[in-house]
Amino acid sequence: MALDNKLGLTSSADLAREEERISKKKAIELFENGILDKLEPGKFSSLQAIHKYLFEEIYDFAGQIRSVNLSKGNFRFAPVMYLESALNNTDKMPQSTFDEIIEKYVEMNIAHPFREGNGRSTRIWLDHILKNEIGKVVDWSKVDKEDYLLAMERSPIKDIEIKHLLKNALTDEVNSREVYIKGIDHSYYYEGYTTFKAEEL
Ligand SMILES: Nc1ncnc2c1ncn2[C@@H]1O[C@H](COP(=O)(O)OP(=O)(O)OP(=O)(O)O)[C@@H](O)[C@H]1O
Ligand SMILES: [Mg+2]
Repeated sequence: MALDNKLGLTSSADLAREEERISKKKAIELFENGILDKLEPGKFSSLQAIHKYLFEEIYDFAGQIRSVNLSKGNFRFAPVMYLESALNNTDKMPQSTFDEIIEKYVEMNIAHPFREGNGRSTRIWLDHILKNEIGKVVDWSKVDKEDYLLAMERSPIKDIEIKHLLKNALTDEVNSREVYIKGIDHSYYYEGYTTFKAEEL
């Protein structure tokens, strides 16, 4: 079963395909129309603007904080009850070094503020911080997807793996559209991928 969507699609495979196509198109627009340049690096409001832009043609909840609890694997993301205060705290986290930025990214992933599309929007948000603060971005084509997912699963307990993985993939090609879009291409969707559990409150 597919998530409720504005496209009227009921098959999750169809939705995933359209979602991928549209969010990629929107991500390129976001890069080219200069909207990203106006966002303040590292703020939740910026992530919200990115998420809204990528997904507003697809979901009513684009840019909106989720109202359901989410878990993936054995991990429960921030409970809805504490989500807003968690986001206020991440806003205040420092971001002047690579390590600080990744620690902030890990916290934002633990918050997982949206019902769907957290990975894609938060990778763009991460690159936006890296670009502005240390003049580098991640070349996601150099990050093995399996390794990334394992490192993200580990990250709430230990962030050394994700730091190592992303540090080795840094590039100073911060204005390359090709490098930028790899963060979206890095999506994990394949047919039948519905490992997220959500409970309506
Ligand atoms: N078990 C886990 N524990 C912690 N974080 C996880 C776990 N599994 C996945 N993640 C993180 O959640 C992201 C996926 O979140 P979500 O499905 O909301 O985003 P997406 O944009 O649809 O997916 P993708 O990241 O595959 O493009 C992954 O990119 C990863 O960073
Ligand atoms: Mg997803």
